[in-house]
Amino acid sequence: MTAAKFTPRVFSGIKPSGGLTLGNYLGAIKRWVDMQGDAFETIYCAVDLHAITVWQDPAELRNSTREIAAALIASGIDTERSILFNQSQVPAHAELSWIFNCVARVGWMNRMTQFKDKAGKNTEKVSLGLYAYPALMAADILLYHATHVPVGEDQKQHVELTRDIAAKFNNDFKTEFFPLTTPVIEGPATRVMNLRDGSKKMSKSGQSDMERINMTDDADTIAKKFRKARTDPEPLPETLDGLKGRPEARNLVDIYAGLSGKTSEQVITEFAGAGWGRFKPALADLAVDKLAPISTEMSRLMADPAEIDRIMGRGAERAEEIAQPILKKTYDIVGLLRSR
Ligand code: AMP
Ligand code: TRP
Repeated sequence: MTAAKFTPRVFSGIKPSGGLTLGNYLGAIKRWVDMQGDAFETIYCAVDLHAITVWQDPAELRNSTREIAAALIASGIDTERSILFNQSQVPAHAELSWIFNCVARVGWMNRMTQFKDKAGKNTEKVSLGLYAYPALMAADILLYHATHVPVGEDQKQHVELTRDIAAKFNNDFKTEFFPLTTPVIEGPATRVMNLRDGSKKMSKSGQSDMERINMTDDADTIAKKFRKARTDPEPLPETLDGLKGRPEARNLVDIYAGLSGKTSEQVITEFAGAGWGRFKPALADLAVDKLAPISTEMSRLMADPAEIDRIMGRGAERAEEIAQPILKKTYDIVGLLRSR
């Protein structure tokens, strides 16, 4: 089955679990902005039900949810063209996820590397929600019959699982109801690495703030973090091949490319032979150039939480209009009696 009979539709989500990083910006947000246009309907979501798979302070959760909306709008998500909302305001996500809990197999969940990473040795103590999380993500996507999901590299396995769930559902019920969604993992910065350790992903929850650039960091902090970013003593090579085995150097080049809209090859050509004393300040200037206006606009938007809530409420209503008929049809296919 192909996705041809489905309306081209993008869905993607970010967890409100702490501040947003440059990884979120380059791996997701910037690309979500670029996908707005005539080719797709675009639906973007602050996935608060995913965030609570690990403990969240209630007041901070509400604040982080609004901050995601502010960051998306400040980065260029147009809330007329795109649907922007938070997941828990559309209960159909949770409803469809239960059905998918009954489609997905325990063996599939056991293969999820993100669960293994997050649970570590603690598999007995983490929440059941953390384990079931990929079925909720599949529900987020398939509730809208989304055909394309722009995500960072770390989410590839979850989108593949979404395809497995869709295929099993279709097969079990002899239907072609759910599309096989395509993950869209493109551009030079689909996996932004930790600034202190190039073998780890940059994340919201790393131990030290020096590991990441936050979207709300001020110019001095950004400059300091890049200055102190781990590198090696070699200057930049002439070609990308010369960055093999130099993960920290490669990461900074990819970040530069992601921020500037150039390819990593173009960046290497531009900076061939440059030392870190030249490259790092150029990178910091570029990052400040791109992030400062977004962070200023975020603060402005955050000063009016009622307006953010209004936008998300309206987005949830629009999302529900697409979701409800799909949920209803799913219930019918499964054989759940609906008499009111
Ligand atoms: P999360 O913050 O885990 O909810 O992630 C939201 C989106 O940002 C997903 O599409 C992730 O793949 C993407 N993302 C998060 N961290 C990174 C990173 N370090 N590099 C690239 N993309 C990322
Ligand atoms: N699991 C994703 C992450 O941790 C967030 C997410 C939830 C998502 N539902 C989604 C991303 C649906 C894309 C589509 O980053």
